[in-house]
Parts: sequence; C-alpha cells; structure tokens
Amino acid sequence: MPPATVPSTSATHSAGRSSRIAPHSHIRGLGLRPDGIADTEAAGFVGQNAAREACGIVVELVKSRKFSGRALLLTGAPGTGKTALALAIAQELGVRVPFCPMVGSEVYSTEVKKTEVLAEVFRRAIGLRIKETKEVYEGELTELTPTETENPLSGYGKTVSHVVIGLKTVKGQKQLRLDPGIYEAILKEKITVGDVIYVEANTGAVKRVGRSDAYASSYDLESETYVPLPKGDVHKRKEVIQDVTLGDLDAANARPQGGQDIMSVMGSLVKTGRTEVTEKLRREVEKVVKGYVEQGVAEVVPGVVFIDEVHMLDVECFTYLNALLESPMAPTVVFATNRGNALVRGTTDVISPHGIPVDLLDRCLIVKTEPYDKAQVAKVVQVRAGVEGLRLGPGVLDKLASEGERASLRYALQLLTPASILASVSGRREIALEDIGEMNELFLDAKTSATKIGSVAGLQ
Ligand SMILES: Nc1ncnc2c1ncn2[C@@H]1O[C@H](COP(=O)(O)OP(=O)(O)OP(=O)(O)O)[C@@H](O)[C@H]1O
Ligand SMILES: [Mg+2]
Repeated sequence: MPPATVPSTSATHSAGRSSRIAPHSHIRGLGLRPDGIADTEAAGFVGQNAAREACGIVVELVKSRKFSGRALLLTGAPGTGKTALALAIAQELGVRVPFCPMVGSEVYSTEVKKTEVLAEVFRRAIGLRIKETKEVYEGELTELTPTETENPLSGYGKTVSHVVIGLKTVKGQKQLRLDPGIYEAILKEKITVGDVIYVEANTGAVKRVGRSDAYASSYDLESETYVPLPKGDVHKRKEVIQDVTLGDLDAANARPQGGQDIMSVMGSLVKTGRTEVTEKLRREVEKVVKGYVEQGVAEVVPGVVFIDEVHMLDVECFTYLNALLESPMAPTVVFATNRGNALVRGTTDVISPHGIPVDLLDRCLIVKTEPYDKAQVAKVVQVRAGVEGLRLGPGVLDKLASEGERASLRYALQLLTPASILASVSGRREIALEDIGEMNELFLDAKTSATKIGSVAGLQ
C-alpha cells in the first residue's frame, strides 16, 4: 500500500491577506469551455470574450509552468472588468498555485522600503511542494491525560509536567509520554479524543488529520472530514506533503520561534538571532530549496503576483520589477491599469503608455477590456442583483442599464444596494423605479459631478 499522504493547505494561505473580493463575488472563474472558447455568459462573466480567452491561455501557461518571469497587462476603461478578470485567473489556477494580489500604492509604506514590499510579494508567489518521509506516531487518539505537578518556583499552583496520549491503529495501540510543549500544540489544534492525529518524532509537531470514521455522524451538512483508522503500526515512516511559499520559508528562518512544521523542513538552515529577512537570507533559502529540488524532495510551483493600479508604482519600482522578473525563480505577473498615456511616477517628463516605462511594457502581453453596451450592463446588473438577493421591479433593470451605459457599469452596480435600502425603508421588498430616481438625485456619477463643479467654479 502506498504511504498515506496528508495534504496541508494551511501554509500557502497562512501568509495570504484578506482579498478585495466582495464586489466580485459573482465571478466564479473565466467561464471557458474545455477548448478555451468563452461562452458569452458563464461563471458570472458577461461578454469580454476575447479578454477572457486570452486570460485562459495565460492560465494554461502558468499551469504548465511556461509563463514564469513574464507579464500580462490588462488595460481598459474604469469598470470594464480588469480586476474581475485577474480574480477569475486566480480561481482558475486553484488553491494550490499561490496568487498574491496587491495594489500599486501599497508600496508606499513608511516602514518598509518600496522594493522590499515588492520583493516580499514575489517571494510569497513562489510555492514549494515538499514531499518528506517523516518518522511519526500516528493513530486515533484514545487518551489524553495531562499530568500536573506543583510548581515549587511559582506561586501559581500547578503546571503540566508531561502528557500521556494513547494512539490506536488497525494493527495496534501505543501509549506515549510527551513533553508539555506538545500538550500546548494539541490544545491549539483543538484535538480531542477520537481524532486521528500524528506526532512527528523529531520535532514533536502535532497535526490533526481528521475525525475518526467511528465517530461519523449521520448529518449531511458538516464541515468535519472523517478519515479511516490508520493502518500499520503507530510508529512508522509516513510521506507528508506540505505546500509552503518561499516567503513562508524566509519568515520562518528570520524568526525561528514560530512555524514548527515549516522549521522541520528547513531544519538545516536555522541560525538563531536573525530577525529580518535579508537578501542574503533569501539566497540561502534558495540554495537549500535548489538542493531539495535536485534531490526530488521538493517541487517549485510558480504562482502569480497581481499588481492592480500598476500606474501607481514609480520608476524605482519599475526598474526593480524588471530585475525581479529576470530572477531565476520568478512568478508570473499580472498588471492592471485604466490609464492611457501618463507620466511615469517619479520622473518629471517621461510620458509613456499606461504610465509604465517602455522597457517593462516590452515584456508584457497586453490584453484590452472593451466598454459594455446597454444589454451587457443589464445582464451584469441582473447577475449582481441575484448575488445580493435583491428583487428588481418593472422597468428597473432597463433604467439601471441606461444609467450604466451613460456613466459606467460600476455606477449602475453601486446604485443597487442603496436603492434596496430605500425600498426597504418604504416597506417594499422590490426595488422600484422611483428608488432609482431618488438615488440619482442623492448621488452623482463622476461625469455629472465634475461637470457641476466645473460650471460653478467657472472651470468649464
Ligand atoms: N464582464 C463582466 N461580467 C460580470 N461582471 C463584471 C464584468 N465586468 C465587470 N464586472 C463587475 O463590475 C464591477 C467593476 O469591474 P472591475 O472592478 O473589475 O473593473 P476594473 O476594470 O478593475 O475598473 P478600474 O479600472 O476602475 O479598477 C465589478 O463588480 C466586477 O465584478
Ligand atoms: Mg480594478
């Protein structure tokens, strides 16, 4: 029987940040057929077929690892779905491929250097799948008894001196006496009797595999994963697969107190006393990783960095990006911008398409999003209303569609929620035409707002 493998998804996402998904929650992917052709309406997307197909090709290239070190640039007017496309790419890639979104302006932090912010994102976008054979104690937890002793030094009563656990497999049973540190880990993972767990023999790291089959309940809806009672001995060698990123490894090596299980992977690298991720540390981590790849222990999974509003970066960042793209372990980069010709930030006179210097533009595949017509706006509004659980009265969809065509798709979408509040205030469950009318009096779209101010100030 092949050794059981335990997929771990926690590491890749441990460093993940909250994403800006809410306005895009209706997008579930690119909506492409198996032959790569876009259906006009699929996966929450409406239209934008050419751009979706182009993104589909990029997804295929990323999956087959042929696009690292290259860049895709999404351009188009505001509200034409560039951010939505990038998020769809992430969904198509799946959770195993790291996807690291950021906004151009995030580099302007007062605490961290601009280039450092970029470097870190790029490191988090390189995944590593590590296969390790570890010596473990695995089984269903049958007993968990912490032993307390009086602590003579502190006045605070008792401390846990050790913990006794019982582990059961199909073949046998074993009782282990473990360090109190492991008891803490057990509490942290919320492990209880009846869970299948394993304890790594060398590091003492504890992992919960799932709940033992024997405890499976008859409810259909449950988040619990049930696993069979492990076969073989309690004490054995087991193949473990872990997904981590270079960013995780950098951080774990810079601050060696945390990341118990990551540390076991990189054990050879730990040097205490480091508190900062330096370029030197990164090179060292890379060297170790290369060694693992050569031995066939680890596999590199290049992911994607998404930089939205890329025109917000300055010339220093752009130069650094060129260098990052050329490094041997580079992820795929997706940029998005709604600017046409613009001044490159940080220069006084360099005007360039999209505010991106030409040498970086030269490395980009450019995909343009098209403006929407009224029918397409109507469809997106309808999709969004469905997701937000809003009901539209007669004529409302048509009204919103013409608003969207006049101003922008985003404006039409933004009217939806406040209009639904107006409707519920008036005790209706459906958004009516008058709610939209009132919204238009209360709120302005960008063009109207600018015209009004312009005419008042005599700027027109
Ligand atoms: N083709 C589409 N199908 C469905 N929803 C769409 C489509 N295009 C855009 N949307 C939705 O419209 C809204 C605006 O789109 P998005 O934020 O992607 O625009 P953008 O091109 O990134 O604009 P900006 O340049 O202002 O950043 C989002 O809620 C997005 O999910
Ligand atoms: Mg956007």
